[in-house]
Amino acid sequence: MSQWIDACATDDVDDEDLIAWMHNGRNYAIYNTEKGYFASDLMCTHEEQSLEDGMVIDCVIECPLHGGRFDICTGKALSAPCTTDLVTYPVKVEAGRVFIALD
Ligand code: FES
Repeated sequence: MSQWIDACATDDVDDEDLIAWMHNGRNYAIYNTEKGYFASDLMCTHEEQSLEDGMVIDCVIECPLHGGRFDICTGKALSAPCTTDLVTYPVKVEAGRVFIALD
């Protein structure tokens, strides 16, 4: 059963940006987009590249290594060379904090 984990303050993530967040030895990305806050795995699904330095454009994250893109809301791989979707996690915001639902 998943639990809501307090990950960060809303202010910790700039508009149209992301931060890396580690929990129980796993790395996650937390995004602040025009559509709200979202979370996914931090590693690109193409190669072992962190998305932390990637660019957030609207609700899309662009990998800094080869420019593959993912839909931040759904994790869907949008462009080559990425073909495997990112795993995403439910997010809620309460009292200025960002919570992520994890198993
Ligand atoms: S490692 Fe991300 S697109 Fe290649």
